[in-house]
Amino acid sequence: MNGHFFWNGAPVAFRPGETIAAALLRAGVVDLGQAHGAPGARVFCGIGACQGCVVAIANAAPVEACLTPAREGLRLGPLPAIGADHA
Ligand code: FES
Repeated sequence: MNGHFFWNGAPVAFRPGETIAAALLRAGVVDLGQAHGAPGARVFCGIGACQGCVVAIANAAPVEACLTPAREGLRLGPLPAIGADHA
């Protein structure tokens, strides 16, 4: 049975056992926003080593999309830019 999570408010389908990154890539989402304040966050290593795929989850700590299983109803988005909350 497939499920859905939300990326920037848009539904993204996932298959059982699929990671967040795999579902996003299959949906055509390559740009994950900013990585640590630099542009171009994306899946690079796919094994949890580069931190390039870290995404924000509503009401939880950020996760590596390439390691984290997709779950029904997750609300995900890019990390906030560093300093954005100090404007
Ligand atoms: S792609 Fe490198 S940690 Fe996820």
